[in-house]
Amino acid sequence: MLRSMGGTRVLLTGATGYLGRYLADELRGRDLEVLRASSSGAGVEFGFDLGDGEALAAALRDARVDAVVNCAAMSSMAACQQNPTDAVRINGRAPQVLAGACGVRFLQVSTDLVFAGDAAPYRAAAPLRPLSVYGLSKAEGERLPSGDRLVVRVPLLFGPSFDGRRGATDMLRGAVGRKEKIALFVDEYRTPLHVADAARGIADLLLDSAVRGIRHLGGHERVSRYALAERFCAAVGLDVAEFSAGHSDDPRRPKDVSLVGDWSPGRGLDEALRDC
Ligand SMILES: NC(=O)c1ccc[n+]([C@@H]2O[C@H](COP(=O)([O-])OP(=O)(O)OC[C@H]3O[C@@H](n4cnc5c(N)ncnc54)[C@H](OP(=O)(O)O)[C@@H]3O)[C@@H](O)[C@H]2O)c1
Repeated sequence: MLRSMGGTRVLLTGATGYLGRYLADELRGRDLEVLRASSSGAGVEFGFDLGDGEALAAALRDARVDAVVNCAAMSSMAACQQNPTDAVRINGRAPQVLAGACGVRFLQVSTDLVFAGDAAPYRAAAPLRPLSVYGLSKAEGERLPSGDRLVVRVPLLFGPSFDGRRGATDMLRGAVGRKEKIALFVDEYRTPLHVADAARGIADLLLDSAVRGIRHLGGHERVSRYALAERFCAAVGLDVAEFSAGHSDDPRRPKDVSLVGDWSPGRGLDEALRDC
């Protein structure tokens, strides 16, 4: 086990993001000293551009940590598609530099979108075939220099976000009452996971120093985007008629990137959806 008591220091990048905030709380709850980083540095201990190797090295020098968790990313598929150079710099190259420079246990948060979606369910050793720039850049970020490294792939996340605009269920809530109903795909499958459960799974893996390599944190069930909305509406008392059913025809969106592995969230999908 990585020591989980006062005095163990973890540098957490992306700490101001959706998953990063949950992860910071989770790691603190395990008695770790968490040094949070973001690009701006506002309200956290460190601010640096992940793509700036010198700033990154300086932060590592100052932080003197026992482990690094890289939860920072250019996370918007659209932004990555529009700016592939930055996507590869931030999501692809920066994790490699950070892992190489840190000299301690390193955990990289990755995604189910490194897969093409035509061979689900995906186990950790399945071959990568990303369809989008985002997926491609994240796949590049999994190619880490050897050492005490761990890549944790998480699926579509849901659960409340700090600004009410991130994660699958906040987006559904945000669409309620719109004149033009949003279409949710009946033919796009995921194994969605509550963001708090993802944070718990990541912390468990980080603290188990016997674990290296690639791990999947898939949710309990494989559901379509539309079925997820149906189950969410039933769980929190919304009317599913707020949404319409649609079909995905974007070749960059994989049809089924269901993740499987040894890990399982402690609670089922409906219970997790009631907590949104
Ligand atoms: N959300 C999902 O459903 C989902 C699903 C699968 C995988 N993931 C993965 O989970 C991780 C976290 O995603 P998220 O949804 O929490 O993203 P998010 O809410 O967009 O947060 C991104 C974080 O990264 C930081 N960041 C962005 N660009 C940076 C840069 N150039 N230098 C330093 N920091 C930078 C941001 O800091 P500032 O706020 O200061 O810019 C922010 O703290 C990512 O690796 C993502 O690929 C997410």
